[in-house]
Parts: sequence; structure tokens; C-alpha cells
Amino acid sequence: MSTNSFVFDAPAEGYFQTQWQAPSNIALIKYWGKYGQQLPHNPSISFTLSQCVTTTAVSFSLREQGTTAFDFLFDQKKQPEFHPKIQQFLDRITPYFPALEGYHLSISSQNSFPHSSGIASSASAMAALALCIADFEKQFHSDWTEEGFLQKASFLARLGSGSAARSIVGPLMVWGHSKAFPRSNDQYAIAPAVKWHPIFHYYQDTVLIVDKEQKKVSSTLGHGLMQGHPFAPQRFKQAHTHLEQLKTALISGDLERFIDLTEAEALALHAMMMTSNPRFVLMQPNTLAILQKVGDYRTQTGRPLSFTLDAGANVHLLYPKKERKPIMDFIRKELLVYCQQGQHINDQVGNGAKKI
Ligand code: DP6
Repeated sequence: MSTNSFVFDAPAEGYFQTQWQAPSNIALIKYWGKYGQQLPHNPSISFTLSQCVTTTAVSFSLREQGTTAFDFLFDQKKQPEFHPKIQQFLDRITPYFPALEGYHLSISSQNSFPHSSGIASSASAMAALALCIADFEKQFHSDWTEEGFLQKASFLARLGSGSAARSIVGPLMVWGHSKAFPRSNDQYAIAPAVKWHPIFHYYQDTVLIVDKEQKKVSSTLGHGLMQGHPFAPQRFKQAHTHLEQLKTALISGDLERFIDLTEAEALALHAMMMTSNPRFVLMQPNTLAILQKVGDYRTQTGRPLSFTLDAGANVHLLYPKKERKPIMDFIRKELLVYCQQGQHINDQVGNGAKKI
């Protein structure tokens, strides 16, 4: 796909202000391995969440010579440690929006979830910022459809963080070309025009915070280690197959298949980390204890509780809304002891970003 249609050179004039709230997402089929400019080696699909969100306000004003490209507040405070990531994002998107160079961006962001909870916030943060920038661009495109706007926002978000491309609409987003989804592509994520089984519109995600510390190995570094990884070709093939199979389960509401595929994906992701060079282990003893207990609970009660993992020690517990009461009782009684200070976040599938 040519990226020319994403280049837009607006006139540098005027002042604009906007604010967007973007959700986090949890991948069911994992993106792990990238090439070129933030392009995925395999397609992924995620649940869009609703409670874990980033809210970002941006004001665009004409930039005076010699001034910085942006200033940034997180939780109303200056946080220079975020500057390199924002600068990298602006450097990557400017070729697609050259007029941006004529502007100074005042960015102010906050998360609904604690920054130090170990929950990755780059997806919601980059998506919220990308939506503000796409919104700025929108005023110059009287012909833009809602779809065109969302595509550009996802395209820009991807340049900030791959998984951010999927934090735009809900309830499920696919990023990366898959033959199971006709309009899917590597440049931006889509919310497929598929009638998902209603059970997944209200699926629950309780995040167990096993470790609040920042990850020892960043995702970006981990993606890089898929280059030349001895199992990479098989892994990319597996992700394609899993996505095709998961599509069927997501439409029919086949929870057994859903659980089987999503847990296999979570463990395949960590298997890649454990077999890369250098190898690394992000799961902790408490992570494994939780996985074991979840499996036992499912066998004993027949309730469809399952887990998935991102690139860290925390565990996302997935289950249907109608099972919430008994499953939350089990989580409280048996699993919170494995969390740092019992910390957990109750989230559920949501409908995507919104303008505030
Ligand atoms: C394990 O999107 O954080 O969460 O593109 O380098 O910013 P960058 O990586 P990132 O990787 C996320 C990896 C994952 C799986 C997923 O979300 O699909």
C-alpha cells in the first residue's frame, strides 16, 4: 500500500485546540516483531478497553523561530522523561504532515490508571496524541469521511507505538494484513465490519498487577530480537493461522476455542522472549502461580475464565460479564494475594476513543 495518500501539507496558519480520550487495548493475537517504519511482521487483533484511558489536550500555535516544537505536561507536571518518545513521534509523523513544523504543540496528558501500575500506557497515550493531530488536520479536509479520519489517526498512532494503532475504535481492532479480514493492512488498524458474538461486546478484563516496576526489556527492544530469531518464521505463520481461527470463535461465541487460542498466543509471545538472543523472562513466580490457579479453577468449575499476558509480569484475566460475580469472588479470595499490594484494575471491552 502506498503511503502517499497519508501525506498532507497544510498551510501554516491560525490556532487550534482539541482534546481526545483514547483507551488502552489488550491484544488477543500478539504483535511481536516489526520491520521498516513500525510495520508488523504478523497481524494482530485486540479488545479495545474502556476504563484504562489517556486524555490528552493539544493546542497548536504558530511557532516562532528558535522555539521548541512542543511542551508537555503529564498530570499537570513537567515530565521531561517522556520528551524523547514524543520527539521521536513528531519526527516520524512530520513527513506525513510537513506543516506541523510551523507549529508549537502544547500537550497536556493524564491517565485514568496509575502511571506506575505496570500497565503499558504507550498505546492509549500515542493514540490520544495522534487523534488530536488528526483532528487538527481534519479542519483542512472538508472532504474527509469519519473513516478517513480514523484511518489517519490510526496510521499516525502506529508511528508512535505499533499497538497504539489499535486504540482508536472498538470493540475489536485488527492491525496487519490478514487474509481473514479483507481491508486489513499493515499501515493502520481497522475495526472489521464483522458481526462479533454479543458476548464479546461486554467481555471483562481484570488486570492483576504482579509487578509495578518498569519492564526490564522494552517492547521495542523485544521486537528487534525477532530479527533473526530461529523461530520467527513459524511464529509469524502461527499468528496468521490463530487469527483466522479466532475470527470464527469471535463470531460464533465459541468460548472454548477463544480460550485455547488466546492462552496459546500469550504463551507463544513469552516463548519468543525466552528463546531470543539475548533471552529474557518477564513472567515472575506469581505470574505462573496465577496461570496455574486459573487453569485449575476452569477445570473445577467449568467457568470460562482465561488469561492473556502482555510484555510483562502482569496478568489480564478475561471472562464474560455474566460470570462476573463468581469470578470476582474467586479473584478476590485466591488471586489478589499474588498482586503487589493486592492491586488490580477492573476493565471491560469498550467502544473506542472520543473527543472531549
Ligand atoms: C506484547 O506497541 O509497545 O503488547 O511498536 O515498539 O511501541 P512498539 O511496541 P508495542 O508492542 C506491544 C507488544 C505486545 C503485543 C501487542 O500489543 O500486540
